[in-house]
Amino acid sequence: MTAFPPGFLWGAATSAYQVEGSPLADGAGPSIWHRFAHTPGRVVNGDTGDVACDHYRRWAEDVEWMRRLRLNAYRFSVSWARVLPEGKGRVNRAGLDFYSRLVDRLLERGIAPMVTLYHWDLPAALDDLGGWLDRDIAGWFGDYAELMYRTLGDRVALWATINEPWVIVDGGYLHGALAPGHKSAFEAPRAAHHLLLAHGAAVEALRAAPGPRSGGRVGIVINLEPKDSASEREEDLAATRRADAQFNRHYLDALFLGSYPAELGEVYGEGWPEFPEADFRRIGTPMDYLGINYYSRGLTENDPTAWPTRASTVHNPDAEYTALDWEIHPESLTRTLAWVRDRYTPLPLYVTENGAAFDEPATLPENARTLDDPRRVAYLHAHLNAVRAAIAQGVDVRGYFAWSLLDNFEWGHGYAKRFGLLHVDRESMRRTPKTSARFYRQVAISHGAVLDGPAPVEAELEALPG
Ligand code: FCB
Repeated sequence: MTAFPPGFLWGAATSAYQVEGSPLADGAGPSIWHRFAHTPGRVVNGDTGDVACDHYRRWAEDVEWMRRLRLNAYRFSVSWARVLPEGKGRVNRAGLDFYSRLVDRLLERGIAPMVTLYHWDLPAALDDLGGWLDRDIAGWFGDYAELMYRTLGDRVALWATINEPWVIVDGGYLHGALAPGHKSAFEAPRAAHHLLLAHGAAVEALRAAPGPRSGGRVGIVINLEPKDSASEREEDLAATRRADAQFNRHYLDALFLGSYPAELGEVYGEGWPEFPEADFRRIGTPMDYLGINYYSRGLTENDPTAWPTRASTVHNPDAEYTALDWEIHPESLTRTLAWVRDRYTPLPLYVTENGAAFDEPATLPENARTLDDPRRVAYLHAHLNAVRAAIAQGVDVRGYFAWSLLDNFEWGHGYAKRFGLLHVDRESMRRTPKTSARFYRQVAISHGAVLDGPAPVEAELEALPG
């Protein structure tokens, strides 16, 4: 069977607001997620990121876990408001030092850091100025990016500008389920455009960054969910094209083809503006790689009540679902990777997130040494083989990051949905390796060779060494 290429990254991912906790410590400013989570009714159970996984204080222990899991890469995000409390202007040294120490320790342990600049936690002070609705944000983001390149660029080789623009726009500006919680078909396309412009500004900033660099490479992280029509009826096929344009092609067409899909005019109606042609040059500033997050596919049908796409995802009676009601469909990861290569770009690809939530307890007995999660083992096994199938088709995939290293704050779901390789006890904060952690370790150690066999059961996996 096809082997994973030499140098392939076996990583895990997290993001700042989801794991760090201590959001206002040591001079940090509040983010829109801090505000949103503290607004009654926004997050399940009233959960907030105040403690999260306490990673801000337990980071050294977490790096030891990565070493024990034999990861050779770790994707994390920087909290913009930790390093620039007002989003621009005054720098918070203590915030920069936190990330600097983390990077040093990762490198000492042979773990390559991949740094995401924006994973949804906009400084609240910038939201007060209009946030992603203000075109000036491209400049604010470019300046923030430059600060981070200057601080970590001598040690960090992989940078991601923005995580999942679709989610930021759909959750934050269209349906309001995520911070800052707006619902507007006028705002959504503008926020999307400014996110893309900001990305372009951050790519330009890396090329221009002064000082010694470790050959830093920069890309963006796009989440993709292939849309399949639930029937051959023309109305379902048209709905599927709208959903695909709104979810997938909106961002990739702009980045690689220099325009937006025609269906977006139909989706947003009079909310859809004219965009200056020249903007697409900045948006399309050449990148070094593309990050793809993949979780599920969407079986789609026409639905006049679904605003504004008039398309809904329907249940597939033959499929298995995760605890978030996401259809498990590994074959779609293979075809997504091949589709990106065929339609858009020969750039190297990284699977920057992939994983699944299943129902698991919030706390474990103190003496628990493991938590058996056979469904996550099966999910990872199938999706890693799907990545390998894409590599066999000649797609240049350079790494895979499991979402997530830790059970963490799953946005509007609070702590109720668990994605971790490591269980995090909500009372003691103790980390306990799940079976999936031990499985993923074997994958990394064998450089994927264990994927030739069936998904192993708990008893077949080595215990973690100390
Ligand atoms: C992605 C996010 C990540 C996490 C996973 C489950 O959309 O990037 O933060 O919430 O989904």
